[in-house]
Amino acid sequence: MEKTFLMVKPDGVQRGLIGEIVNRFESKGYQLVGGKLMSISQELAEQHYGEHKERPFFGELVDFITSGPVFAMVWEGENVISTARLMMGATNPKESAPGTIRGDFAVTVGKNIIHGSDSPESAEREIGLFFKEEEMTSYEKTV
Ligand code: CMP
Repeated sequence: MEKTFLMVKPDGVQRGLIGEIVNRFESKGYQLVGGKLMSISQELAEQHYGEHKERPFFGELVDFITSGPVFAMVWEGENVISTARLMMGATNPKESAPGTIRGDFAVTVGKNIIHGSDSPESAEREIGLFFKEEEMTSYEKTV
């Protein structure tokens, strides 16, 4: 089954949006298979955002993601990578539709509440950066 990496960024944690965000993905029908509140080191931030290293906002990006705790998650389900991106909305909240997470809760591109893997390759890489195999689980519904 497909898995993706999602992360409530420091702005989402500080605004008390973890529950709202988890609720949206649970209600959609996806399964939370890993989750932890954690601080991101400078090294992990630079690895995670490595593809943006040459961008002018790279320093700002790393400073922001290391500025406070994040809630890192692994979610599982059919087409979860692309559907989670749709549910998050466009990266720039100026363009994200109402009804999406960024469309409903964010105003600026730097503080856009949530990160989500953009491809199967990114999902595998990002899950591996943030989670050990034994920190994830998966279960069949029995109730
Ligand atoms: P994210 O999905 O976490 O992946 C890269 C992040 O870079 C993106 O969300 C935005 O938060 C951030 N970003 C993109 N463009 C800019 C920008 N012009 N200034 C600051 N941050 C940006």
